[in-house]
This record gives sequence, structure tokens and C-alpha cells, in this order.
Amino acid sequence: MHAAGILEDNTVSKLEWTSFARVQAPKVEGSWNLHTLTQDRPLDFWVIFSSVASLVGNPGQAAYGAGNAYADALAHHRRMQGAPALSINWGPWKGEGMSSQHTHNLYRRWGLLPIDPSEGVEMLGQLLSIDIGQAWAAPLDVDLLMERSAESPHLSLMAELVGGPKGRIPSPGGKAVANEASKLKDLPDDQRQAAVLEHVADLVRSVTGMEASEPVRVDARLETIGVDSLLTVDLLNALSRFFGLNLPATILINCPTIELLAKYLCEEIARNQKPDHTLLLDRSVPGGADLLNSSVSVSP
Ligand SMILES: NC(=O)c1ccc[n+]([C@@H]2O[C@H](COP(=O)([O-])OP(=O)(O)OC[C@H]3O[C@@H](n4cnc5c(N)ncnc54)[C@H](OP(=O)(O)O)[C@@H]3O)[C@@H](O)[C@H]2O)c1
Repeated sequence: MHAAGILEDNTVSKLEWTSFARVQAPKVEGSWNLHTLTQDRPLDFWVIFSSVASLVGNPGQAAYGAGNAYADALAHHRRMQGAPALSINWGPWKGEGMSSQHTHNLYRRWGLLPIDPSEGVEMLGQLLSIDIGQAWAAPLDVDLLMERSAESPHLSLMAELVGGPKGRIPSPGGKAVANEASKLKDLPDDQRQAAVLEHVADLVRSVTGMEASEPVRVDARLETIGVDSLLTVDLLNALSRFFGLNLPATILINCPTIELLAKYLCEEIARNQKPDHTLLLDRSVPGGADLLNSSVSVSP
């Protein structure tokens, strides 16, 4: 049974090779040692505690995700050789251990609930009684997973596995969110500004895994309140979906605080109230090739 591991979370741009190697060591060298040193023994089972991180790609866990993916692959490699092997992609466990409240909050928003230790031991027993090489083990809020499934291809795959064909998965947010966002257009300017600010703060809390009631500084730079470079993509997607706007990828660079984002979004919402005339460009129009795929909005 292999249960060694460490975490040193960091964004890829700040990842040092020495840190990467430290995180990989117990997973890659550790599992390989366990594999080679037990090869001539008649084993009833060979189990490695992997993580859901290798399936969904957690923010900041490139090294840990890769190390666990190695362990998953090694389990399959062993089984191809006829040796027993099981890699369990655990969700976060409650209690002592490497999982934190922050991790629990992040996973919870995807519908993956923390594992109670007694529940985990029971799952381990069940998994050992079946002939399987790799298993994802986590209690699920299936409705929430379905709702969030469009946030990443991995979540979409997971939702598909537990919920049937892709076509049956509702788009995140759905009607309720669309209605909520469309109401903003009808508000007087000052009320709209306050409401947009609150919605942006809520979305920031949601993507960073903060509690809904946790205070958040609206004038602080996003990276100082937990929106690291990986979460910027999540936040951009969440903002685009919620406000029904096609937002440029540079928006989080140009508007690096909740306050500035809300100001920009208010202007966009107000601008979108006015009828647009969209001129579609054609390749045959001189100079049109450069502008193809874009549209020009002209306010009367
Ligand atoms: N807790 C979770 O929510 C969770 C979720 C998914 C997967 N997992 C996996 O489950 C396993 C156990 O997690 P945990 O929460 O019990 O972690 P933990 O409390 O932090 O314990 C990890 C253990 O790994 C040992 N270790 C670290 N690096 C090592 C190395 N290079 N060589 C030998 N031993 C080493 C540590 O020993 P020292 O203390 O002596 O350094 C420690 O005993 C890990 O493999 C983890 O990846 C945990």
C-alpha cells in the first residue's frame, strides 16, 4: 500500500524544478520502488493512493497531478504484466492530512464532497473486493457536478460518466442566471453598479473557494485575494457566463480588481442596451481579411 505524498502548490510560471522534483519523488520514485521491490512476491493487492488531481487538473497542482498520473499509469502497466494493482483517485479527505479547508471548498464547488475517514475506509474495502485497476473515489453532489460540467473538459467528462450523454447535461447557470443577469439592464445606474459589484465579488468567492459570507476586498488586486493565473480562466468563464457577455481575455489584466471589473462590466451592460448594427465583413472586401471573424458595432 503506497500512501506517501507531499504538496507544494504553485502556478506553472512560478514552479521551480527543485520543488517539482520534491513533489514527484514520493509518487514517481516511491511507486516505482514499490513496484520493483515487490515483483517477486505473491501479493494479494498492490494499492496506490492517487488523487482526483490527476483527473481534473487542480489549480496550482501541476507537479502533484503529474506525479499521480504517473502512479495511475503504473497501476495499468502492472496489470498488463498480470500483477495486482489498483490506483485510487481519491477526492479530498476530511480530518488530518494534506487536504485543507481551501481544497475542500474548491472541490465542493464542482460537486466533489470531502470524504469522511470511515466512509473512505469502507470505499477502500469495496474497491479491493472488485477487479479494477483504477477508480475515482469521492462522494458526489451530482446535480452540482452537472451544473459545473462546462467549466472544463475534465469536469464535462466526469459529468458524462455519471450522468449519461453530453446532450443531457444542462449548461451551467441555466435560466436562473440568465434572468438574473438580464435584470441588471433594467436597474437605475447606481443600483446596477452596486448589484454588479456584488455579483463579481460572489463569482470571485466562488472560483477561489471562499465561503459565500467571507468578506472580500474589492480594491485589492485579484492575485492577492486568491485568483492565481490558473483561476483567471475560471473567473473569465464565470463572468462571461453570468453576464452573458463575450469578454476579451485581457480583461483581467486591464481590470485587476473587483471594483475595476464591475465598472467595466457596468459600461458593457449599459452599452449593450443600445441597439447594435453589426457589419459583417467579407474576404472580398479590400482590407476585410484582417477583420474577418470580428464584427464592428456602431451605436446610432
Ligand atoms: N488527504 C487527502 O485529501 C488526499 C486526497 C487525495 C489523495 N491523497 C493521497 O493519499 C496519500 C496520503 O495523504 P495524507 O493526507 O495522509 O498525507 P499526509 O498526512 O501529508 O501524509 C503523507 C505521508 O507521506 C510521507 N512522505 C512524503 N514524502 C515522502 C517521501 N519522499 N518518502 C517517503 N515518505 C514520504 C510523509 O512522511 P513524513 O511525514 O515522514 O514526511 C507522510 O507520512 C498521499 O499519497 C496523497 O497524495 C490524499
